[in-house]
Amino acid sequence: MSTTPPKADTIDMDLGLKGKVAAIAGGSRGIGRYIASALVREGCSVALYARDKGGVESAVETLTQAGGNVAGASIDVTREDAGEQMARFALEEFGRIDIFIGNAGGNRRKPFVDTTDEDWTDLLNLNLLSHLRAARAVIPAMRDQESGSIVFVSSIFGREAGGPGLSLYNTSKTALISASKIMALELAGEGIRVNCVAPGSIRFPGGSWDRRCNEQPEAMEKFVADNIPLGRFGTAEEVADVVTFLASDRASLVTGACLNVDGGQSKSLI
Ligand SMILES: NC(=O)c1ccc[n+]([C@@H]2O[C@H](COP(=O)([O-])OP(=O)(O)OC[C@H]3O[C@@H](n4cnc5c(N)ncnc54)[C@H](OP(=O)(O)O)[C@@H]3O)[C@@H](O)[C@H]2O)c1
Repeated sequence: MSTTPPKADTIDMDLGLKGKVAAIAGGSRGIGRYIASALVREGCSVALYARDKGGVESAVETLTQAGGNVAGASIDVTREDAGEQMARFALEEFGRIDIFIGNAGGNRRKPFVDTTDEDWTDLLNLNLLSHLRAARAVIPAMRDQESGSIVFVSSIFGREAGGPGLSLYNTSKTALISASKIMALELAGEGIRVNCVAPGSIRFPGGSWDRRCNEQPEAMEKFVADNIPLGRFGTAEEVADVVTFLASDRASLVTGACLNVDGGQSKSLI
């Protein structure tokens, strides 16, 4: 069986995203940048946010050169007013918000007994609260439009135990899936869908798995053989494709779901 990823541009399915407006928290590099690129290819206008101004400018420039209608702002999503800032920026730039992607996130590994209140506050702020604040800020515009799609990027380790050292990451990613499910129930009657994706180990140039593969190729080969049934790391394009589908009306019956994008890596039954 071939385990090579298919080329995204060979897939022909009209997602009906032309003219829609998407806002992406953490859209300047990594998976978020690929999501921005996929949404631009589908004809969305995109507002993207990240902390590093140069990274935001470079992403906006590249995507604009590729024909996209793209704007970006340097915003730290962990700030209490970041949700409002992101919503205001997208509305000022594009006049509406059809899609919100909560992708910003990070990890902090350490044994539970060594974790501090500061660690918990930081990780919960980045991986959970920032997305809840952003959702609260974009929902009024989606309500006025009577439609909207929110997609959060969680992790397979939000659905099952990631292992020792991952209490901060695991807890924050699980809580995001849990909150999104309740949001989906509350907003279903208003035409707003809320879903998550749960990526497994995703390799892209400059990312953490890429770095580990370059530093310890044999260990990483063994990791893949032991953990990923499809026999390779996922690509950021493959995560972006699933996010883009969930964001679109082609996923009109999907809400309150969390889709694994992991080559079979997750062992969770639910
Ligand atoms: N890579 C994987 O294998 C994998 C697996 C499972 C889940 N995930 C999840 O997928 C998401 C993206 O991961 P990634 O590997 O693509 O990460 P990444 O390469 O580190 O990119 C993260 C993006 O979020 C932005 N960001 C980070 N902190 C931010 C903050 N406080 N405010 C605003 N923007 C912020 C970054 O830009 P700035 O640094 O400039 O702010 C960047 O645009 C994360 O939620 C991660 O947990 C990744």
